[in-house]
Amino acid sequence: MSVKLTVIERDGTEREVEGEHGLSLMEAIRGAGVDELVAMCGGCCSCATCHVLVDPAFAEQLSAPSEDENDLLDSSIHRAEHSRLSCQIRISAALAGMTVTVAPED
Ligand code: FES
Repeated sequence: MSVKLTVIERDGTEREVEGEHGLSLMEAIRGAGVDELVAMCGGCCSCATCHVLVDPAFAEQLSAPSEDENDLLDSSIHRAEHSRLSCQIRISAALAGMTVTVAPED
């Protein structure tokens, strides 16, 4: 099963992305060809180059960030209220229709 999401790239381009259940949001975004989401560490929660801003309407559907994710987000000058590391979010049916914006580059 897959879930449809909208990804807004840094230049404002909107892309429809389909993410398979169980993949990370980062894998779904990169799998759709959005290379500007660098994800340098490959999803190990150690680089913060998978930083996204999630749709506030879906914030409660997501599990809270871990301490590691929170610390890493603090290292970004672009941290905002709904900042998350996309490698730490699992695709599930609850995320269908969510809009995710790629955060500005640090
Ligand atoms: S891919 Fe490195 S922290 Fe997410």
